Amino acid sequence: VPGPTSGDMARAFRSVRRDPLTFLGRVREHYGDLVSFPVPGPPALLVNDPADVRHVLQTGARHWGKHTVQYAALGRVTGPGLLASSEPSWIEHRRLAAPAFHHERLAAVSDRVRSAADDGIRSRLTSPGPTVVDVSSLMHHIGLDAVGRALFAADLGGHADDLLRASSAAADIVVRLGRSILPTNEWLPTPTNLRLRVARRRLDTVTAQLMADRRSRPTPPGGIPHGDDLLGLLLDSGLTDDEVRDELVTMVIAGHETVAASLTWTLMLLAEDQVAQERVRAELASLPAPVSLLDHRDRVPWTRAVIDEALRLFPPAWVISRRSDRDDVVGGVEVPAGTLAIISPWLVHRRADTWADPEVFRPERFLEPGAGRTAYLPFGQGPRLCIGRELALGEMVVVLDRLLATHHVGLPDDWRRPAPEAQVAVHPRGGMPLELTPLRRG
Ligand code: HEM
Repeated sequence: VPGPTSGDMARAFRSVRRDPLTFLGRVREHYGDLVSFPVPGPPALLVNDPADVRHVLQTGARHWGKHTVQYAALGRVTGPGLLASSEPSWIEHRRLAAPAFHHERLAAVSDRVRSAADDGIRSRLTSPGPTVVDVSSLMHHIGLDAVGRALFAADLGGHADDLLRASSAAADIVVRLGRSILPTNEWLPTPTNLRLRVARRRLDTVTAQLMADRRSRPTPPGGIPHGDDLLGLLLDSGLTDDEVRDELVTMVIAGHETVAASLTWTLMLLAEDQVAQERVRAELASLPAPVSLLDHRDRVPWTRAVIDEALRLFPPAWVISRRSDRDDVVGGVEVPAGTLAIISPWLVHRRADTWADPEVFRPERFLEPGAGRTAYLPFGQGPRLCIGRELALGEMVVVLDRLLATHHVGLPDDWRRPAPEAQVAVHPRGGMPLELTPLRRG
C-alpha cells in the first residue's frame, strides 16, 4: 500500500499538527484511496474509498472496535461512555439511552429547545442595530443549554459558564493527547494531566449536582420515578453513579460541540449566500405551527438541504478511527489484526467522483433523492451511528428558525473566511464574526 515514508512524516510533522485537514487532503491527493502511514507494529491506513469505509464501519464493524488513540484520549474525559466505549457493555448502554432520542420524546421537548434558542438570542443580541457577533460563541451557549433542557430537563444556566469552560478545556486536552506520539502516563503531574484533572473535577461537580437534584425531586403520582428524559432513564437503569456520570459527560461534550460547530458553519454559508438565506427564512416562516424537532424530516426540504450541505462541507467529526481485532481485507489488501483504520468524513465528502465541484456550497444537490449518499457520513455509519442525529438535525432547524425570524445574517466589512481548525470538532479558528441585524417587524 503506498504512503509517505518516515522521512516525509518527519518533514511534515509541523503541518500535521497545525493543520491536519490540509495534510490529510494532500496525502489523499498524492497516494490515492488507500494510504499506509509509517508506524511501528500493525499498519495504520487512511481509508478513503466509500466501499472500504462501509466495510470498516458497517459490514465488518464487529471486528473493527474503538481501541484507538483517538478514543483512548476522549475516554480520559468521558470515561467509557457511549461514544468512547469499545466494550460489549456499549450495546446495553445504547439500548438504555435510546428511548430519550425517540421521535415522540423529541416532539415533546421541542418547546424546550425553542426556549433555549430564544433565551440565548435575547440575552446575547441586545443591540437595536447591526452588530458583529462571534456566532461560534453564541451557538456554543445555545447548544449547551439545548442539551441540558432536552436531555436532562435541567436549566444548565447556572452551570453554563463552568461547563463551557470545562468542556472546552477538556476538548483541547483530548486533541493534544490524541496527537501526542509518546504514550502519556495519567498519573504524572504534567501540565496537561493537571489541566485535565481540573476540567474533570468541574464536569464531575456539575453532573453530581444534576443527579442529586433529580433524586431529590418527588415522583408525581403514577409518574416514572426519575422522569422519562435521558437523566431519568439512566438513574432508573441500575447503572452505577460513575456510569451515569460518564454518559452525562459524553452527551454534554458530544452533544453541544458538534451542533454548535455545524450551526456556526451553516450561518457563515448563509451569510455568504443571501439568496439561500432568504429562502430558508421564507420556508421556516411558512410553517403552520411553531417549529419542532421533527420538522427537519419532511417539512422544510430547503432548510434541510442547506444543513446537509453545510455538514458535507464542514463535518464536525472530521476523523473516525477503528482498530481491527482479526486479520481482514481492506481495499483488496490483506491486513493483520491490530490494523488502525483512519476515516475522514472531511475527505470523503470532497470526492470529485461523487460531488461535482466539491468545494462549492450548493444545497440543491441534496434535493435530488439519494444524491451522493454513498460518500456522505457526517454522523458516521453502521452500528455506531450517532445516537443524537435526529436531535442534532432538529436542533439545527429550530435554532435557524429562531435566529432568522429575528435577525438578518451578513458578512462584516473586513470579511475573510476563518480557517477551519480540527479540534474535537472542526471549528473556525479565532471564532466566527458575523454581522447580525434585527429585522423590522410588520
Ligand atoms: C456518535 C457526529 C450530535 C451523541 C457520533 C459519530 C459521529 C457523530 C460521526 C460516530 C463516531 C464513530 O463512529 O466513531 C455528530 C454530529 C453531530 C452530533 C456531526 C451534530 C451535528 C450529537 C448529539 C448527541 C450526540 C446532539 C447527544 C446529545 C453521540 C453519541 C455517539 C455519537 C453518544 C456514540 C454512539 C454510539 O457509539 O453508540 N456522532 N454527532 N451526537 N454521537 Fe454524535
